[in-house]
Amino acid sequence: MWNHSDLLLLNSSPAASASVTVVDTNEQTPLHRVHCGGSVLAIAVSSDHIYAGTQGGEIMVFSLDTYDHVRDLKGHSGCILALVLSEDESLLVSSAGDAIINIWRTKTFENVHRIYSTFDIGDIFCVAYSSKLSTLYLGAQNTSIQWYDFRATDKRPRASLKSHPSKRSHRFFDSLGPGGSATPQPPVDSSDVLESCHESQLVEIDPLNIVQYAHFGYVYCMLLLKSFTKEGEEILVSGGGDGSIKIWEIDSETSAIKPETSKTLSSGDSGVLCMATRDQFLYCGLTDGEISIWDLDGQTLIRSIKGHQDDVLTMTVRDNCIWSGSASGYVRKWSQRFELLGRWKAHDGLILASDLKSVKGRDLYFSGGNDDCVSIWDVSYHEDDFPSAYRTTEDELLSTLRKLVSYRTVANDPKFSEDCRQGASLLKSIFRQFGAQSFLIPTDNRNPIVFGRFTPPETPGVESNRQTILFYGHYDVISAGEETADNQWITEPFEMTGMNSYLYGRGVSDNKGPVLAAIFAAGELAQNNQLSCNIIFLIEGEEEAGSRGFKEAVKKYKDFIGPIDWILLANSYWLDDEAPCVTYGLRGVVHASVEIQSDRPDLHSGVDGSRESREPVIDMVNLLAKLTSDKGKIMIPGFHEMVRTITPAEEAMYTEIENEFSERLFRGSIPSGRLKEHLMSRWRYPSLTIHRVNVSGPTNATIIPRSASAAISLRIVPDQKLSTVTENLTSFLYDQFSTFSSPNQLRISIDHVSEWWLGDPLNRAFRTLARVVEEVWEKKPLFIREGGSIPAVRFLEMEFGASAAHLPCGQASDAAHLDNERMRVANLYKSKTIMKKVFRELPLDNDDVGV
Ligand SMILES: *[C@@H]1O[C@H](CO)[C@@H](O)[C@H](O)[C@H]1NC(C)=O
Ligand SMILES: *[C@@H]1O[C@H](CO)[C@@H](O)[C@H](O)[C@H]1NC(C)=O
Ligand SMILES: *[C@@H]1O[C@H](CO)[C@@H](O)[C@H](O)[C@H]1NC(C)=O
Ligand SMILES: *[C@@H]1O[C@H](CO)[C@@H](O)[C@H](O)[C@H]1NC(C)=O
Repeated sequence: MWNHSDLLLLNSSPAASASVTVVDTNEQTPLHRVHCGGSVLAIAVSSDHIYAGTQGGEIMVFSLDTYDHVRDLKGHSGCILALVLSEDESLLVSSAGDAIINIWRTKTFENVHRIYSTFDIGDIFCVAYSSKLSTLYLGAQNTSIQWYDFRATDKRPRASLKSHPSKRSHRFFDSLGPGGSATPQPPVDSSDVLESCHESQLVEIDPLNIVQYAHFGYVYCMLLLKSFTKEGEEILVSGGGDGSIKIWEIDSETSAIKPETSKTLSSGDSGVLCMATRDQFLYCGLTDGEISIWDLDGQTLIRSIKGHQDDVLTMTVRDNCIWSGSASGYVRKWSQRFELLGRWKAHDGLILASDLKSVKGRDLYFSGGNDDCVSIWDVSYHEDDFPSAYRTTEDELLSTLRKLVSYRTVANDPKFSEDCRQGASLLKSIFRQFGAQSFLIPTDNRNPIVFGRFTPPETPGVESNRQTILFYGHYDVISAGEETADNQWITEPFEMTGMNSYLYGRGVSDNKGPVLAAIFAAGELAQNNQLSCNIIFLIEGEEEAGSRGFKEAVKKYKDFIGPIDWILLANSYWLDDEAPCVTYGLRGVVHASVEIQSDRPDLHSGVDGSRESREPVIDMVNLLAKLTSDKGKIMIPGFHEMVRTITPAEEAMYTEIENEFSERLFRGSIPSGRLKEHLMSRWRYPSLTIHRVNVSGPTNATIIPRSASAAISLRIVPDQKLSTVTENLTSFLYDQFSTFSSPNQLRISIDHVSEWWLGDPLNRAFRTLARVVEEVWEKKPLFIREGGSIPAVRFLEMEFGASAAHLPCGQASDAAHLDNERMRVANLYKSKTIMKKVFRELPLDNDDVGV
């Protein structure tokens, strides 16, 4: 409870209470950061949007949900200095260094009024809006407070409205804003701003509605409060560069503030830069790091503390906490008794703006600085990092993903096997938190598979004949290469970082984000008692290493896993960043090593090089050359005959994609008109790659290597049989080599194979998936295939006799496997929604039963 006597008590005995410990929260990381292209001097947060006012005069609007940049409000030619929302959030008021105030309708983002004063008043540092009186108050650089009452009709002749600021020259150059930092104002042409403004929206403040010399200094901040003495009335509190705080009564008839009854509270010479209030207490941030706390009811100073080293530029208060932000970039969090609870560095530079908003049960703190960013912080009080009743909300999904990303689950590096185990354990505990059955399936000395099973409760008396969906994914990742000197990561790869509506980190898109979205989707259904089928998860830890041990482990546990009706996976990407897709095909792959050896040691070419000696590297070059024609055609006999011929129905799907992309450039790299051809060769035709040719010995220019090796791979497609392709490849190479009559030995080994997969885009799973994707993204998905391979898909289909469907969650620019892997927040959330609907609706979509 917030209690006046507490404060007074504390004032007389300043020793900190033993129950409060100062937490140095230096390590606090923001939930997200958005870049605004210039210093952020004002922030306002509504239930839907974050409004950030920039130095350049733009108000940038971001979605509070996904941090997507929604739009820019353009109406100022000087830096934005204040943003205030009306009580019902229907109006946004902005003031700026251009001496203009704009009022925006938040629903439509339209500019409804532009307000200016008769004379040049310089920067407008602060505004307040009374919904009750429909009146706007402003505090300006020229020490005046002015107001505009929208209830009163302006009876002055329109002709007098010609003193618009853009037609005057600015008297206040290089004014020092709060914090003493000059805000450089680039010469901005305001004519385009005015162009978009109708005459009717343009209003001028009546010269009678001005109080001159409201402060003996700039009017930096103001707040509108309920009167303590007069029921139902409001008072205005203003803080000035002169170090005084003034309390103004407001005439509820005329909206006028009354200088004759105003009260002045003075806290010395330090300028009052910011204010916040709760109940009758007023918290003021001053120059030189002072914070003063006033009781407005009794108009007495309760406390004055040295809160920061530098100017206190922002002040925010909620319930039992106060947050102050300073010119050094630090935020400090205070208890109601002004004990320091924590501090952290929020910005590189000044903190110029802040706001606080409760969003879905969390307290979010927003800070803006001259490092051009708005940062969003979770400042809610957490009982425990891992709540016992697991919440299914989006933010829980994000914080769980952050934790999962922090484990370096690199399958190919034994050094990280402990991380892999911990990642697997985390998944297991998430399943269990959601009430699902879960355990780890061991693989032969490899990372375990996480098994999870959601089972709907049995209805008594009803025979259970439920369907089962199997979701397949993986928790391992490929190395982030962060130890290599030339890596391009802009964030720490294993610390998930939210930036500009994207989440950055190794594995966020491939495949940790989609896997968690699916688990949360199922968990949410289970918690709301909406499960209509069994959902089984197999999340493996070796996918990036060719799914080592997966088949054997699944076969071993097949009876336990039980019958499966449908298989779902979410492990690929859209074709570009805009069109949602579903994936119905993957290519297979054959990786082979070819080695040619002589039985002699490495020799010197000057001494031993002769016409008789058959050099292994030359044999290798000749042999590899047989694989393709001069034009690049693969020469393995029978190879192309096995490729399925294209049907008109299939070709139509490519045409659809081509039409979708006819308007925009496809990743900029394909000349228009060649997209269809390009996609077909990537998706439905096989390819051959020589990855590496390697020689033995020290590779000196004088040495004849005694052996050579090469790594090659073939991407294969329907209806190429894996076994036929490997046999034809090996026999072709041996046959060719035998014609060389070389004394050297050829060895071929098949290192890794994966079957291609082709789903039926017309089956029930794909129809449900496509319908749900269209509902959620409000756009028909494109049916696409992938050039890459996922070994487990075809295996699971054959093992369980079930069909698979594939939902790509990320965008083409996600950079999976590359530096700066990322996933858009909106894609993650929407993927969860899609999977929830698919889990629920796929077993119910009975339209093709009996067909
Ligand atoms: C401030 O501006 C008002 C009009 O907007 C003007 O009447 C007044 O003289 C100005 N005050 C100072 C101190 O310049
Ligand atoms: C490819 O291999 C298969 C199976 O071994 C064999 O039947 C077929 O004749 C081979 N094709 C060619 C063109 O060598
Ligand atoms: C190249 O071949 C040599 C000798 O066969 C071997 O030691 C080395 O590991 C190989 N390097 C690569 C990159 O395969
Ligand atoms: C190969 O070159 C390295 C350095 O370039 C040299 O140290 C080495 O002695 C050379 N080896 C032979 C066999 O010439």
